[in-house]
Amino acid sequence: MRIVLVGPPGAGKGTQAAYLAKNLSIPHISTGDLFRANISQGTDLGKRARAFMDEGRLVPDEVTIGMAKDRMSQPDALNGFLLDGFPRNVGQAEALDEILRSESVELDAVLDLEVPEDEVVKRIAGRRICRNESAHVFHETYNPPKAEGVCDTCGGELYQRDDDSEETVRTRLEVYHTQTEPIIDYYRAQGLVVTISALGKVTDVTERAMEALKRSE
Ligand code: AP5
Ligand code: ZN
Repeated sequence: MRIVLVGPPGAGKGTQAAYLAKNLSIPHISTGDLFRANISQGTDLGKRARAFMDEGRLVPDEVTIGMAKDRMSQPDALNGFLLDGFPRNVGQAEALDEILRSESVELDAVLDLEVPEDEVVKRIAGRRICRNESAHVFHETYNPPKAEGVCDTCGGELYQRDDDSEETVRTRLEVYHTQTEPIIDYYRAQGLVVTISALGKVTDVTERAMEALKRSE
Protein backbone atom coordinates (compact mmCIF):
# COMPACT_ATOMS: atom_id res chain seq x y z
CA MET A 1 0.00 0.00 0.00
CA ARG A 2 1.04 3.60 -0.59
CA ILE A 3 -0.33 5.88 2.08
CA VAL A 4 0.06 9.55 3.01
CA LEU A 5 -0.53 10.52 6.63
CA VAL A 6 -1.64 14.09 7.20
CA GLY A 7 -2.56 16.05 10.33
CA PRO A 8 -1.45 19.00 12.43
CA PRO A 9 1.83 19.00 14.38
CA GLY A 10 1.43 16.78 17.44
CA ALA A 11 -1.60 14.93 16.03
CA GLY A 12 0.18 11.61 16.56
CA LYS A 13 1.36 10.96 12.98
CA GLY A 14 4.73 9.56 14.05
CA THR A 15 3.14 7.51 16.85
CA GLN A 16 0.51 5.98 14.56
CA ALA A 17 2.92 5.56 11.65
CA ALA A 18 5.13 3.26 13.71
CA TYR A 19 2.22 0.86 14.38
CA LEU A 20 0.57 1.16 10.97
CA ALA A 21 3.82 0.56 9.09
CA LYS A 22 4.43 -2.57 11.16
CA ASN A 23 0.86 -3.86 10.66
CA LEU A 24 1.00 -3.21 6.93
CA SER A 25 4.63 -4.33 6.45
CA ILE A 26 5.67 -1.11 4.73
CA PRO A 27 8.42 1.36 5.68
CA HIS A 28 7.59 4.50 7.68
CA ILE A 29 9.08 7.48 5.86
CA SER A 30 9.09 10.68 7.92
CA THR A 31 10.69 13.74 6.34
CA GLY A 32 10.93 15.31 9.82
CA ASP A 33 12.91 12.29 11.10
CA LEU A 34 15.12 12.35 7.98
CA PHE A 35 15.89 16.03 8.53
CA ARG A 36 16.64 15.46 12.23
CA ALA A 37 18.97 12.54 11.36
CA ASN A 38 20.79 14.80 8.87
CA ILE A 39 21.11 17.52 11.49
CA SER A 40 22.57 15.17 14.09
CA GLN A 41 25.01 13.78 11.50
CA GLY A 42 26.04 17.31 10.51
CA THR A 43 25.37 16.85 6.77
CA ASP A 44 25.03 19.79 4.34
CA LEU A 45 21.35 18.97 3.94
CA GLY A 46 20.94 19.10 7.72
CA LYS A 47 22.70 22.48 7.84
CA ARG A 48 20.33 23.87 5.19
CA ALA A 49 17.23 22.50 6.93
CA ARG A 50 18.03 23.51 10.49
CA ALA A 51 17.19 27.22 10.44
CA PHE A 52 13.80 26.58 8.83
CA MET A 53 12.93 23.83 11.30
CA ASP A 54 13.99 25.87 14.33
CA GLU A 55 11.59 28.61 13.22
CA GLY A 56 8.78 26.16 12.45
CA ARG A 57 8.77 27.02 8.76
CA LEU A 58 8.83 24.54 5.87
CA VAL A 59 12.22 23.56 4.49
CA PRO A 60 12.31 24.70 0.81
CA ASP A 61 10.82 22.27 -1.71
CA GLU A 62 14.07 21.90 -3.69
CA VAL A 63 15.71 20.33 -0.62
CA THR A 64 12.70 18.35 0.62
CA ILE A 65 11.45 16.79 -2.61
CA GLY A 66 14.86 15.37 -3.60
CA MET A 67 15.36 13.89 -0.13
CA ALA A 68 11.88 12.28 -0.13
CA LYS A 69 12.36 10.96 -3.66
CA ASP A 70 15.70 9.35 -2.73
CA ARG A 71 14.16 7.65 0.28
CA MET A 72 11.16 6.39 -1.74
CA SER A 73 13.50 4.84 -4.30
CA GLN A 74 15.21 2.61 -1.68
CA PRO A 75 14.54 -1.13 -2.19
CA ASP A 76 12.35 -1.46 0.93
CA ALA A 77 9.91 1.15 -0.45
CA LEU A 78 9.36 -0.33 -3.90
CA ASN A 79 6.13 -2.12 -2.94
CA GLY A 80 4.69 0.54 -0.69
CA PHE A 81 5.33 3.10 2.04
CA LEU A 82 3.70 5.24 4.66
CA LEU A 83 4.62 8.89 4.20
CA ASP A 84 4.55 10.99 7.39
CA GLY A 85 5.04 14.74 6.97
CA PHE A 86 5.35 14.66 3.18
CA PRO A 87 3.81 16.13 1.10
CA ARG A 88 3.27 19.27 3.10
CA ASN A 89 2.13 21.78 0.47
CA VAL A 90 0.44 21.55 -2.93
CA GLY A 91 3.77 21.85 -4.80
CA GLN A 92 5.08 18.77 -2.96
CA ALA A 93 1.80 16.89 -3.64
CA GLU A 94 2.19 17.64 -7.36
CA ALA A 95 5.83 16.50 -7.24
CA LEU A 96 4.78 13.27 -5.51
CA ASP A 97 2.15 12.64 -8.21
CA GLU A 98 4.87 13.08 -10.81
CA ILE A 99 7.21 10.63 -9.01
CA LEU A 100 4.42 8.03 -8.71
CA ARG A 101 3.38 8.51 -12.33
CA SER A 102 6.95 7.91 -13.50
CA GLU A 103 6.87 4.57 -11.63
CA SER A 104 3.34 3.77 -12.94
CA VAL A 105 2.02 3.43 -9.38
CA GLU A 106 -0.66 5.26 -7.38
CA LEU A 107 -1.51 6.29 -3.85
CA ASP A 108 -4.09 4.09 -2.11
CA ALA A 109 -5.21 6.51 0.60
CA VAL A 110 -4.55 9.76 2.40
CA LEU A 111 -5.25 9.27 6.10
CA ASP A 112 -6.22 12.55 7.74
CA LEU A 113 -5.84 12.67 11.55
CA GLU A 114 -8.24 15.13 13.16
CA VAL A 115 -7.40 16.58 16.59
CA PRO A 116 -8.54 19.83 18.28
CA GLU A 117 -5.87 22.48 18.73
CA ASP A 118 -5.86 22.47 22.56
CA GLU A 119 -5.08 18.74 22.51
CA VAL A 120 -2.15 19.07 20.07
CA VAL A 121 -0.65 21.79 22.27
CA LYS A 122 -0.78 19.40 25.28
CA ARG A 123 0.66 16.53 23.25
CA ILE A 124 3.58 18.60 21.99
CA ALA A 125 4.36 20.16 25.37
CA GLY A 126 4.92 16.72 26.94
CA ARG A 127 6.59 14.99 24.01
CA ARG A 128 9.97 13.32 24.49
CA ILE A 129 11.75 11.62 21.61
CA CYS A 130 14.63 9.19 21.38
CA ARG A 131 18.02 10.19 19.91
CA ASN A 132 18.11 6.90 18.00
CA GLU A 133 17.46 7.21 14.26
CA SER A 134 14.07 5.49 14.67
CA ALA A 135 13.01 8.44 16.87
CA HIS A 136 10.80 6.44 19.27
CA VAL A 137 8.13 8.78 20.70
CA PHE A 138 6.94 9.17 24.32
CA HIS A 139 4.87 11.63 26.36
CA GLU A 140 5.68 12.54 29.93
CA THR A 141 2.04 12.03 31.02
CA TYR A 142 0.17 10.14 28.27
CA ASN A 143 2.86 7.61 27.38
CA PRO A 144 5.68 7.85 29.92
CA PRO A 145 8.83 5.76 29.55
CA LYS A 146 9.44 3.22 32.34
CA ALA A 147 12.65 5.02 33.39
CA GLU A 148 12.73 8.81 33.14
CA GLY A 149 14.73 10.06 30.16
CA VAL A 150 15.41 6.57 28.76
CA CYS A 151 13.77 4.98 25.71
CA ASP A 152 11.89 1.72 26.53
CA THR A 153 12.50 0.35 23.05
CA CYS A 154 16.24 0.87 22.56
CA GLY A 155 17.64 2.42 25.75
CA GLY A 156 18.47 5.66 23.88
CA GLU A 157 18.41 9.08 25.53
CA LEU A 158 15.09 10.95 25.39
CA TYR A 159 15.05 14.68 24.65
CA GLN A 160 12.67 17.53 23.90
CA ARG A 161 12.73 18.79 20.30
CA ASP A 162 14.09 22.33 19.75
CA ASP A 163 10.99 23.22 17.71
CA ASP A 164 8.58 22.16 20.48
CA SER A 165 8.73 25.56 22.21
CA GLU A 166 5.41 27.38 22.57
CA GLU A 167 6.31 30.11 20.08
CA THR A 168 7.53 27.71 17.38
CA VAL A 169 4.49 25.48 17.83
CA ARG A 170 2.29 28.51 17.08
CA THR A 171 4.16 29.09 13.80
CA ARG A 172 3.97 25.38 12.91
CA LEU A 173 0.19 25.36 13.44
CA GLU A 174 -0.20 28.45 11.25
CA VAL A 175 1.98 26.89 8.54
CA TYR A 176 -0.17 23.75 8.77
CA HIS A 177 -3.40 25.71 8.22
CA THR A 178 -2.13 27.89 5.38
CA GLN A 179 0.18 25.53 3.49
CA THR A 180 -0.58 21.92 4.40
CA GLU A 181 -4.38 21.84 4.79
CA PRO A 182 -4.88 22.72 1.09
CA ILE A 183 -3.43 19.30 0.18
CA ILE A 184 -6.48 17.69 1.81
CA ASP A 185 -8.71 19.32 -0.83
CA TYR A 186 -6.17 18.42 -3.52
CA TYR A 187 -6.44 14.73 -2.53
CA ARG A 188 -10.19 14.92 -1.88
CA ALA A 189 -10.59 15.78 -5.56
CA GLN A 190 -8.83 12.46 -6.28
CA GLY A 191 -11.20 10.61 -3.90
CA LEU A 192 -8.33 9.52 -1.64
CA VAL A 193 -9.05 11.15 1.72
CA VAL A 194 -10.19 9.20 4.78
CA THR A 195 -10.59 11.28 7.93
CA ILE A 196 -10.53 9.80 11.44
CA SER A 197 -10.51 11.26 14.92
CA ALA A 198 -7.08 10.93 16.54
CA LEU A 199 -8.50 11.40 20.06
CA GLY A 200 -8.43 8.60 22.59
CA LYS A 201 -5.98 5.84 23.36
CA VAL A 202 -3.11 5.26 20.92
CA THR A 203 -4.28 1.66 20.33
CA ASP A 204 -7.87 2.81 19.65
CA VAL A 205 -6.65 5.32 17.07
CA THR A 206 -4.56 2.60 15.37
CA GLU A 207 -7.63 0.35 15.21
CA ARG A 208 -9.73 3.18 13.78
CA ALA A 209 -7.03 3.88 11.20
CA MET A 210 -6.73 0.23 10.13
CA GLU A 211 -10.52 -0.02 9.69
CA ALA A 212 -10.65 3.21 7.69
CA LEU A 213 -7.83 2.02 5.43
CA LYS A 214 -9.59 -1.30 4.89
CA ARG A 215 -12.81 0.51 3.92
CA SER A 216 -10.90 2.68 1.47
CA GLU A 217 -9.51 -0.29 -0.46
P1 AP5 B 1 7.76 16.91 11.61
O1 AP5 B 1 8.78 16.16 12.35
O2 AP5 B 1 7.03 16.25 10.49
O3 AP5 B 1 6.75 17.54 12.67
P2 AP5 B 1 5.15 17.79 12.67
O4 AP5 B 1 4.42 17.56 11.42
O5 AP5 B 1 5.05 19.12 13.26
O6 AP5 B 1 4.61 16.65 13.49
P3 AP5 B 1 5.09 16.24 14.85
O7 AP5 B 1 6.31 15.36 14.73
O8 AP5 B 1 5.22 17.46 15.73
O9 AP5 B 1 3.87 15.44 15.45
P4 AP5 B 1 3.23 14.04 15.14
O10 AP5 B 1 1.92 14.25 14.48
O11 AP5 B 1 4.20 13.10 14.48
O12 AP5 B 1 2.95 13.59 16.64
P5 AP5 B 1 3.67 12.49 17.57
O13 AP5 B 1 3.33 11.11 17.12
O14 AP5 B 1 5.09 12.84 17.80
O15 AP5 B 1 8.39 18.24 10.99
C1 AP5 B 1 9.24 19.09 11.74
C2 AP5 B 1 9.79 20.18 10.84
O16 AP5 B 1 10.56 19.61 9.77
C3 AP5 B 1 8.76 21.07 10.13
O17 AP5 B 1 8.31 22.12 10.96
C4 AP5 B 1 9.55 21.54 8.91
O18 AP5 B 1 10.42 22.60 9.26
C5 AP5 B 1 10.38 20.32 8.57
N1 AP5 B 1 9.72 19.46 7.58
C6 AP5 B 1 9.31 18.15 7.75
N2 AP5 B 1 8.75 17.67 6.63
C7 AP5 B 1 8.75 18.69 5.73
C8 AP5 B 1 8.28 18.81 4.39
N3 AP5 B 1 7.65 17.80 3.76
N4 AP5 B 1 8.47 20.01 3.75
C9 AP5 B 1 9.11 21.02 4.36
N5 AP5 B 1 9.56 20.98 5.64
C10 AP5 B 1 9.39 19.82 6.32
O19 AP5 B 1 2.81 12.74 18.92
C11 AP5 B 1 2.93 13.94 19.65
C12 AP5 B 1 2.90 13.62 21.16
O20 AP5 B 1 1.60 13.14 21.51
C13 AP5 B 1 3.88 12.52 21.60
O21 AP5 B 1 4.43 12.86 22.85
C14 AP5 B 1 3.01 11.26 21.72
O22 AP5 B 1 3.50 10.36 22.71
C15 AP5 B 1 1.66 11.85 22.12
N6 AP5 B 1 0.52 11.09 21.59
C16 AP5 B 1 0.40 10.53 20.35
N7 AP5 B 1 -0.82 9.93 20.22
C17 AP5 B 1 -1.46 10.14 21.40
C18 AP5 B 1 -2.77 9.78 21.90
N8 AP5 B 1 -3.64 9.07 21.15
N9 AP5 B 1 -3.11 10.17 23.15
C19 AP5 B 1 -2.24 10.88 23.93
N10 AP5 B 1 -1.00 11.26 23.51
C20 AP5 B 1 -0.62 10.89 22.28
ZN1 ZN C 1 14.62 4.52 21.16
